[in-house]
Amino acid sequence: MIRLGVAGLGTAFCKMLPAFLKHPGIRMVAAASPVEEERTNFARDFDVPVYHDAEELAELSNVDALYISTPTPLHAEHVACALRNGKHVLVEKPLSLDVDTALALVQMAEQQGVILLVGHSHSFDPPIQEIRRIVETGRLGRVRMIHNWCYSDWIYRPRLPDEFNTALGGGVVFRQGAHQFDIIRLIGGGLVRSVRATTGIWDGSRPTEGAHTVFLEFTDGTVATAVYNGYDHFHSSELTFGLGEWGEVDDYRAMPQYGRQRRQVQLADTQTEVQMKRSRAGYCSTAQYAAVERLPLFGMTMVSCENGDIRQTPQGLAVYGDREIEYLHLPENVTAHDSVVSEFHDAIEGIRCPIHDGRWALATLEVCLAVLDSSKQQKEVFLQHQVGVSGR
Ligand SMILES: NC(=O)c1ccc[n+]([C@@H]2O[C@H](COP(=O)([O-])OP(=O)(O)OC[C@H]3O[C@@H](n4cnc5c(N)ncnc54)[C@H](O)[C@@H]3O)[C@@H](O)[C@H]2O)c1
Repeated sequence: MIRLGVAGLGTAFCKMLPAFLKHPGIRMVAAASPVEEERTNFARDFDVPVYHDAEELAELSNVDALYISTPTPLHAEHVACALRNGKHVLVEKPLSLDVDTALALVQMAEQQGVILLVGHSHSFDPPIQEIRRIVETGRLGRVRMIHNWCYSDWIYRPRLPDEFNTALGGGVVFRQGAHQFDIIRLIGGGLVRSVRATTGIWDGSRPTEGAHTVFLEFTDGTVATAVYNGYDHFHSSELTFGLGEWGEVDDYRAMPQYGRQRRQVQLADTQTEVQMKRSRAGYCSTAQYAAVERLPLFGMTMVSCENGDIRQTPQGLAVYGDREIEYLHLPENVTAHDSVVSEFHDAIEGIRCPIHDGRWALATLEVCLAVLDSSKQQKEVFLQHQVGVSGR
């Protein structure tokens, strides 16, 4: 049994919680958050000690592993502290804000002989993992093009001030691009050669990237695009059977919902917006966080191989071969978060090698940084820290 401490009891934690509760090999034994209400709620539900700070958890002798979902600017110090104390770490993306720090953390985990895993990302989504499996069989020939296009209300969801600061990990490149690049890297084999991108900050009152168009080329010549627009007009759920990122029904077009998110935050001052985020982010009770039992669709993912195309459907995948279209049904009771927790558990127990380890996460972070750099310099940026999906 892996004894887990959870650091941060906000949005990301609440999404992960059902998977922690479901896995038979993991038990939550402690938690930390500076927010008193979150600590009180957690202690009430799980009857375990709660602390103010992630670093206190890292020092507990009865904790084997830490899940870190604290704000992005704190990841590096919290991960370093956990690793120093010999704990296995599962940290939300991004691992850190620069390549050198990420590399130092990766090396620290390797020296300590502990597991460092980064998740959740939507590359854990069961349909994306199934696409990877099909590509690996080679039955459609070599993969040639991968596209992920996502339109949402991301920039107008209630935010903390740091989330508008790109240098602190704010904006859609770090927060949403990280999902897209992980999906694309997983399907394409991991090794991105270069990136050319243009990012957009179109609303000066929310001064971080809200949109990007990215062209990626893999070392084997496979090409990919990642398009994101978080300015809450069109939603790509319209292209994905009305289903959203978590498999939820997204009826954003119906009045009065249409544009409501944007109008609400535009009317709020900073303090009100922080309260809006807190009221929908922090841990309240287990009852609130049942996993959606439908397959997730993080925008529209299209994959073209030499002899066929693959896309997601509400039930799984459609595989367009030379002679027929095959419809694959995937189980709905295994979530992406279940896959994260299993990969972490199995890596610690030595059952299988993880894909989304520190070096994998460093490579995805390198893509995020290259997107920002390419847009600034208006030129192609070449990558140096890419790793493949398997064979490590
Ligand atoms: N994988 C995903 O789908 C996903 C979704 C949302 C956020 N994230 C990532 O998760 C991270 C957190 O984002 P969020 O939206 O959950 O933020 P949030 O503000 O909702 O939650 C952060 C939590 O960390 C706590 N915290 C702050 N300082 C702390 C400290 N020193 N020690 C312990 N706890 C501390 C806060 O009180 C809060 O409970 C970010 O890095 C973000 O990129 C990932």
